[in-house]
Amino acid sequence: MKKMHKIFASMALIGLAGCGSTSETEDTPGTTTPVTDSKKIGISTAEVCQANNSTDVNWLTLTSINATNLSDYNLFYNQCDPTSSPNTRGLPYDMAVPLFTDYASKYRFVFVPTDTTATYQEDEAFDFPIGSVLTKTFTLPTDTSDRGVSKEEIIETRLLIKRENGWATLPYIWNEDKTDAVLSLIGGSTEASILHDSTEMNFDYGVPTNAECSKCHQYKPNGDPDLGFISPIGPKARYLNSDYDYGSGDENQIAKWVSEGLLSGVPVSSSDIDAVPVFKDTTDIDAIAPSQLEKFAEAWLDINCAHCHREEGGASNTNFNAEWDSPIALATCNQPISYGGGDLSYIITPGSADDSIMIQRMEALPDGTGDQMPPLGRAIVHSEGSELIKAWLNNSSATPCP
Ligand code: HEC
Ligand code: HEC
Repeated sequence: MKKMHKIFASMALIGLAGCGSTSETEDTPGTTTPVTDSKKIGISTAEVCQANNSTDVNWLTLTSINATNLSDYNLFYNQCDPTSSPNTRGLPYDMAVPLFTDYASKYRFVFVPTDTTATYQEDEAFDFPIGSVLTKTFTLPTDTSDRGVSKEEIIETRLLIKRENGWATLPYIWNEDKTDAVLSLIGGSTEASILHDSTEMNFDYGVPTNAECSKCHQYKPNGDPDLGFISPIGPKARYLNSDYDYGSGDENQIAKWVSEGLLSGVPVSSSDIDAVPVFKDTTDIDAIAPSQLEKFAEAWLDINCAHCHREEGGASNTNFNAEWDSPIALATCNQPISYGGGDLSYIITPGSADDSIMIQRMEALPDGTGDQMPPLGRAIVHSEGSELIKAWLNNSSATPCP
């Protein structure tokens, strides 16, 4: 097992054209962020971590500048721990089905400014007021069967900040001592080595560039690129209509957002709120009833693919729509328009995962062929996701393709 975890910002010359936010950072293309030679596990106990004992989020900094250090926003009481103790108006949340990112653990928080609320939307991401922040911290476990931040290496924290001119997308990379994270608009990469199902996996874990954020987080109303803007993806009713343990047992997340004064406009009857089935890497696929497989598959494809594969996304011009509950989604026997698919003819071949281009692309690696889907954001294959989609395809009783 490799001991070294090196983090270095990629040298690629990438335009810093952000997502419409003012930049006051010294981050320029070609700069390297600190190289980490020793992998430090867990939360730092350095003195600086507790230096700022204020529970007030620094809203002014959030809405006005891209701060160099994550701690400048004072989002967390312990600046070295972005996985717990959010400051005022912050709440942790979890996704019923998450996006796969190389088996990293993810710790997400929502912050909504005092005296304001996000507004409920039926199908799309909630409408957040200016000043809102969504944070997502990625940590790499040593062994995926034994998670928990004390056993994980903190790698990066991504921020979406709602400002006057829209959402800013900011990647922060944790320093060697794990005492703060530093803005790196050009992303970065680190050599990772994890155990998954008792198999050692070595790969380059990539932190996306600021420009790459928008590949997934763009939203084009009616498919019109001229109207495109940046949007959150996860905080949708169907993903939050699930339980989370805030410390005193499981509670419904939407109900909690309402009782904490973070969300308004929620339907009175909870049966009017959509929900996806909960699917995690630990879910026993064999235990899913065959009649339920399609719903699980739709949910996995929705969160892993549909931000691009929908009319409003970056892959709207392909023949594959992965959107949850859309009548045109998952159309079987569609032929690819952008890619021949080798010997395979159809994106989805009912009854045969092996003959479905979708699976071939989900299992492709970043090897230069361009086959890999999603095209960024992962270096290894999501076995559990593949197994789920294969189980659904192989069990499908839809009419076979011609
Ligand atoms: C490969 C596609 C992809 C890329 C690239 C990507 N994201 Fe995301 N992001 C997602 C998806 C899908 C979710 C929701 C699922 C989840 O949280 O597991 C998400 C969630 C988030 C969240 C939590 C709020 C939300 O929208 O759900 C933040 C914050 C975030 N991303 C920031 C960023 C930033 C900053 C970057 C660039 C450094 C980035 N993301 C790059 C796909 C992507
Ligand atoms: C960051 C945006 C993005 C994400 C996320 C993404 N794709 Fe794609 N996808 C594309 C683009 C762009 C193309 C067209 C170019 C190509 O074929 O490589 C494409 C093409 C495809 C095609 C061929 C469709 C056709 O009509 O030719 C399939 C199948 C596909 N993707 C499957 C997936 C699956 C499955 C996922 C989720 C596991 C996924 N994609 C996630 C951007 C994305």
